[in-house]
Amino acid sequence: MNTDQLVRTFLEYYQEHGHHRITGSTLIPPPGDPVLFTTSGMHPLTPYLEGRPHPLGRRLVNVQRCLRTTDLDEVGDLTHLTVFEMLGSWSLGDYEGPQSLDWGYRLLTDGFGVDPGRLHVTVFGGDEQVGPDTGSLELWEGLGVPVELTVEDNWWSNGPTGPCGPDSEIFLWTGDTPPESTPTGDDRWVEVWNHVMMRHRRLDDGSLVPLPQRNVDTGLGLERLSSLLQGRSSVFECDVFDPWRRLLPPLWPLDEPSLRLVGDHLRSAVVVIGDGVRPSNTGRGYVLRRLLRRVLTVLRRDDPGRGLGDLPEELLRHTLDHFRQELPPEVVRRVLIDEERRFDLLLERGRRVLSRPRFRGPLSEDDLHYLHDTHGLPRELVLDLRGA
Ligand code: ALA
Repeated sequence: MNTDQLVRTFLEYYQEHGHHRITGSTLIPPPGDPVLFTTSGMHPLTPYLEGRPHPLGRRLVNVQRCLRTTDLDEVGDLTHLTVFEMLGSWSLGDYEGPQSLDWGYRLLTDGFGVDPGRLHVTVFGGDEQVGPDTGSLELWEGLGVPVELTVEDNWWSNGPTGPCGPDSEIFLWTGDTPPESTPTGDDRWVEVWNHVMMRHRRLDDGSLVPLPQRNVDTGLGLERLSSLLQGRSSVFECDVFDPWRRLLPPLWPLDEPSLRLVGDHLRSAVVVIGDGVRPSNTGRGYVLRRLLRRVLTVLRRDDPGRGLGDLPEELLRHTLDHFRQELPPEVVRRVLIDEERRFDLLLERGRRVLSRPRFRGPLSEDDLHYLHDTHGLPRELVLDLRGA
């Protein structure tokens, strides 16, 4: 099943169960939202999870592009991406968690053909504020799926305050051997789908109050499930990345983790630029700047002549089309090239300043602050130049 078929199967399944499809938002949350980027499918739906009636009803389904900076250091491994798509379903005060899990199980096994013997789930075991999630536990026991109870790992929130609740996560076994151990005991169990029983709101003082309605919020990482269903060993090998895997290696021969990082960060940068962000020293623009600087640092490690201007047009166009973004590829290319030039100037300045006698020995924290505050040299860049 390719990724487009997977999306269609998901949407149709939920539509058959009375859900209305809603259009996903961009990566930019509405004004006033404290979070820089949309990090989850529920994010744009927060007011409706908090009780405002949704014009399309109480059952919703969509595909939402998301960006997570919390996983940035893990990108390059087998399962994490910076920008990814999340398939989501919602009950806004309608059906409860066990119904959601039951539909999820049937879609995975009957719809996507996952062998039930490769599934394991986790369920919230209870803490001093909220009791164990017995509804989810009983549902999974009835279906014969092995359950692990955890506490922190099975509590989901989008930030320190706001809507939150216990969740039940569905894991798929990716090992070559028969399944063993549990999701927290063996990382060959890969999480594919999270069902959050979103019934609480956390206040500033850490206490919980009930939301006006009992919701369910689910999120399934599209590229991750797609790569697993396609029997690929990394998320970067699912069909969504086919053009990247075809065109990048001949352009820039890199080791596999670096190739994944460069592909992920560039694709993410294109989407972020397509949603209107430009590199800067603060906020969203700084996230974009960091993505591009990481790419340039990796590319230049082996060959200082490598440049973003060489990126094939097909990759820009493929990404913009995939996310239905209107921006012409030449505009994206210009942003990339301008940012590269700025990075090069900074590198030059960095080398010059670091060659001064004062910085010959080991650098202290004071030196790093001085280099940053007086010369605009970010810490990572200085350390990188020193390592080189
Ligand atoms: N909001 C939940 C998540 O992102 C479903 O995992």
